[in-house]
Amino acid sequence: MTKRQVSLRGKNILGLQGMTIAEMELILDSAREMKNIIDRDIKKVPTLRGKSIVNLFFEPSTRTRTSFELAGKYLGADVVNVTTSASSVVKGESLRDTLLTVEAMGVDIIVMRHEAEGAAEFAAASVNPVIVNAGDGAHEHPTQGLLDIYTIREKKKAIAGLKVAIIGDVLHSRVARSNIWGLLKMGAEVRVAGPRTLLPRDIEKFGVKVYDRVEPALAGVDVVNVLRIQRERQQKGLFPTPREYARIFGINQERLALAQPDALVMHPGPMNRGLEIAPDVAYSEQSSIQEQVKNGLAVRMAILFLVLMGGKDIETSA
Ligand code: CP
Repeated sequence: MTKRQVSLRGKNILGLQGMTIAEMELILDSAREMKNIIDRDIKKVPTLRGKSIVNLFFEPSTRTRTSFELAGKYLGADVVNVTTSASSVVKGESLRDTLLTVEAMGVDIIVMRHEAEGAAEFAAASVNPVIVNAGDGAHEHPTQGLLDIYTIREKKKAIAGLKVAIIGDVLHSRVARSNIWGLLKMGAEVRVAGPRTLLPRDIEKFGVKVYDRVEPALAGVDVVNVLRIQRERQQKGLFPTPREYARIFGINQERLALAQPDALVMHPGPMNRGLEIAPDVAYSEQSSIQEQVKNGLAVRMAILFLVLMGGKDIETSA
């Protein structure tokens, strides 16, 4: 065995498709340490004092934007939020010019959410600050994927060998893609289920098992990750009515009983309660939805720390 440095210092966090297992584990291990800070009475540490972070969100967000802001502040960085609806974007400023303007102010990290797939990669190619992808269209949402994997690992101790069902609007879901890439790399079996109209045509190529009924997909799984129906991204006619969707694909107690008795219920939020998930499932003892939010803060603290400061030695046979 030899020792090798794994480091994310200076690296853009664009997606889990391009991330190594060692890099993911570095983030997950660091997040566990960050969670200790969140649990303290006084949460602020000076680790990133003198560093600056801009949250540049072209789409709405509650969890991701707030947790990145708190993550930066808990670590002592200066954090500025740019809400594009109140910025010069509404005067027609392009994405590239917006990025160049933020860069000119000397920021260290730009956390960006954008409706276009590939926007984070474009940003990384356009400016020097580290880019952290907070969601680009239906492509990737790497910090959500990592916080989901963190939550599963915390509850189930390991990822390898677990059966994970991802249910619902996979077609429009960057959360699903980041989960799929990350979970498969870490050795889980991943199943996806939903109406055929909400499953990408080539989804089998990801290496997942595909179901157009929920019941067989849920049989014996360890984790049920329920996706939001993204009505804002859908054309008409992808499913008959919300009531029909809930009846055929909604996760209720009866369907949840098909999974392992201790199966973990997850949802990235925001939820359409009563549509993709029944309220008594969302707030059941099996639900980790609130814990996911807390873990999101820890994972985002870990990422901000690691891209500016961090690495560690790992044992490897390579
Ligand atoms: N899961 C998620 O990305 O939520 P927000 O849109 O509230 O950030």
